[in-house]
Amino acid sequence: MDNEKIQDRMDRKQDKQREKTKRKTEEHSAFGGVFDSYTSINLNKMMAKGIIQEFVGIISAGKEANVYFALGEENIPLAVKIYKIDPQNTKWMKNYIIGDPRFKKIGTSTHKIIYTWCKKELKNLKQMERHGIIVPKPLINRDNLLVMEFIGESNGSPAPRLKDVNHLEDPKKTLDFVINQIKKMYIEAHLVHGDLSAFNILYFKGEPIIIDVSQAVSVYHYNAPVFLKRDIINVLKYFEQFVSKSDLPDVNTLVQEILSES
Ligand SMILES: Nc1ncnc2c1ncn2[C@@H]1O[C@H](COP(=O)(O)OP(=O)(O)O)[C@@H](O)[C@H]1O
Ligand SMILES: [Mg+2]
Repeated sequence: MDNEKIQDRMDRKQDKQREKTKRKTEEHSAFGGVFDSYTSINLNKMMAKGIIQEFVGIISAGKEANVYFALGEENIPLAVKIYKIDPQNTKWMKNYIIGDPRFKKIGTSTHKIIYTWCKKELKNLKQMERHGIIVPKPLINRDNLLVMEFIGESNGSPAPRLKDVNHLEDPKKTLDFVINQIKKMYIEAHLVHGDLSAFNILYFKGEPIIIDVSQAVSVYHYNAPVFLKRDIINVLKYFEQFVSKSDLPDVNTLVQEILSES
């Protein structure tokens, strides 16, 4: 190849790269106003590394966090959860960190507590996944950002929450599956969700997928049995509309059974 051709090729490559960087900056600035500067820096780092290729849109805006649909390497659909650095949230969060032997040092600043919270969600997802509980695949966490598998259609439409599903193929089977997940979580993964209900279970391709696990605590947390009972009550509330009373398990018996096996 002569020198002119080589130069030509290099120029085209550079142009492509410039175009890509420009596109990414434009996409990102569309969300820029929403993020504080730390979050923007961390997002930029993830984009520069190619972990996130494109930010597509918002899935959910909550009190503690927003969840975005993004594309990762090879256009893999991702869910990016971004926790807000809000001192109002750290007060109750502490109740789900202090007492969990996995988190001895939590720090006192709002930033530090939120970062611990986000790391806790990643850790919980990993611990659950390791024990066969169906959760979004955890990918990476940096400060207040958590990147995980997106549950839904590849066009970005998220799976519905169980709460929004009003027809189940086989309600008893779905109930048994969820109860089994709770048992497995407690007995094998040594965790209790702590905020489980039809709001925090997605339903995709006939399968319930547990989400929002940041507050999940070790079974050695002093409140673990209380959280376990509350989770079971909340889950059963949803299934009452589909399953006859005689098919619903008795809450106290179930709690006792799980506690005695763990
Ligand atoms: N991995 C995911 N894939 C698809 N949608 C998700 C995912 N994680 C969360 N969502 C959506 O975002 C919403 C909020 O996420 P969640 O983790 O429950 O945070 P919070 O309830 O604290 O705002 C969920 O109800 C769900 O609709
Ligand atoms: Mg939630």
